[in-house]
Amino acid sequence: MARAFLYAIVGGGVAAGYAADEFVKRGVSRGDLCIISEEPVAPYERPALSKGYLNPEAPARLPSFHCCVGTNGERLAPEWYKEHGIELFLGTRVISADVTRKTLLIATGETIIYKYLIVATGARALKLEEFGINGSDAANVCYLRDLADAEKLVKVMQSCTGKTAVVIGGGYIGMECAASLVINNLNVTMVFPDSHCMSRLFTPKIARYYEEFYQSKGVKFIKGTALTSFDFNSDGKVTAVNLKNGSKVPTDMVVIGIGARPNTALFEGQLTMEKGGIKVNSIFQSSNTSLFAIGDVAAFPVVTVAGETTTTRLEHVDFARKSARHAVAAIMNPEKTNEFDYLPFFYSRVFTLSWQFYGVNEGEVVHFGDFSGKTLGAYWVYKGRLVGSFLEGGTKEQYEAIAHATRVKPMVEDLGELEKQGLGFALSL
Ligand code: FDA
Ligand code: NAD
Repeated sequence: MARAFLYAIVGGGVAAGYAADEFVKRGVSRGDLCIISEEPVAPYERPALSKGYLNPEAPARLPSFHCCVGTNGERLAPEWYKEHGIELFLGTRVISADVTRKTLLIATGETIIYKYLIVATGARALKLEEFGINGSDAANVCYLRDLADAEKLVKVMQSCTGKTAVVIGGGYIGMECAASLVINNLNVTMVFPDSHCMSRLFTPKIARYYEEFYQSKGVKFIKGTALTSFDFNSDGKVTAVNLKNGSKVPTDMVVIGIGARPNTALFEGQLTMEKGGIKVNSIFQSSNTSLFAIGDVAAFPVVTVAGETTTTRLEHVDFARKSARHAVAAIMNPEKTNEFDYLPFFYSRVFTLSWQFYGVNEGEVVHFGDFSGKTLGAYWVYKGRLVGSFLEGGTKEQYEAIAHATRVKPMVEDLGELEKQGLGFALSL
């Protein structure tokens, strides 16, 4: 059977939820839009999975964190889609796509015909097997990408209270999950190959602040080495991790966060790809003019600090939300839609800590604030201009100030003076 829609969205994550909201705000007609999602639930705010969802007390559960509560917008529960005549195909994988014929084959065997397609398939967690290590399917080995992963993690964690956990990876998932495991009363060891945590973003000095905080909560760090294999018991459960440095760490459970890869497989060979994602222009249109890509899967144009145009991908929720709104604007009101002008924004919350980052972490770094206290940060200065700002423990006003400062890219003549002024520099602009 074939069904025809003016607009179809493949993928039902953050970007899909915000795109649906924007379609409705712009007056989409009933029956014109469908969303096809492999997940069995309506679009939700994925960041909740590594934070509120893992709380031992009063954990966040759907429907409380459906999109768009993450930006204080309306909560789009499944009934909302019904009310607005948007068809949700949930628990339904898109099996193949033909961008020339403008058709999708979905797992129910139906064909979806579209005029415009938005690809919002996000990314998948990298598996250990891709590094030649077996064990991802063990009952006490957890990943964290979707709701099913989060449900498994909670179950495994609750059955291990008071016991030990090893976290593989020192990036976003590793740091956020390690904190949640501690809050759930597990003894945590983190293992990663880099010399410090969050190495893609943090300077060694910033990383030291967080690592010392984690250590004060009992977390142990094993850095500069990687997992080589697991030991299993007769039930197939992992009992220890073996590391490249020759050591063995006994454990009751394992959490893996070793990076993500965009879900592009449906469109390989049909669209131009770059940086591992679907290459789009400044209105998120791909090499096929009827097809737009948003969120983690989109490789979009940016002007670098050196003034050159390049292509980048961002795997963060603020970009997913804003790229979604922009693409829908471009589809529904092309003549009124400008180029996407975006200031990158990332954040995280762990324990009682909370940080925000704006811009890019390129050039010389100037740290400021009290690294033995609660409010500290850093600026990145490239060729005399402020291009990036990081702040831990700020107030709303202070975060707005660093965001503004990074957007206007002021000249910085004296790095020593910038260090002395610290947060005051951003607040004075
Ligand atoms: P997203 O992954 O949200 O959605 C993709 C959807 O497509 C999924 O529902 C998937 O099942 C579906 N799909 C894929 N292939 C399909 C197919 N063939 N057929 C049908 N459906 C298909 N960022 C941040 O800035 N701050 C934060 O605190 C966090 N925290 C955080 C926690 C955790 C646990 C994760 C995993 C990620 C974050 N992030 C984050 C990152 C942020 O959540 C991420 O950038 C956005 O979810 C990206 O939104 P997308 O819609 O692009 O993908
Ligand atoms: P990441 O890229 O942030 O971190 C990967 C970590 O794994 C790094 O520490 C890296 O050194 C380590 N690593 C890589 N290969 C390894 C190996 N073979 N063995 C051991 N360690 C290895 O990726 P992630 O933490 O897995 O996050 C996945 C996705 O989720 C990303 O897209 C991220 O942006 C997103 N996310 C974002 C947030 C946030 O923005 N607050 C929170 C959670 C997840």
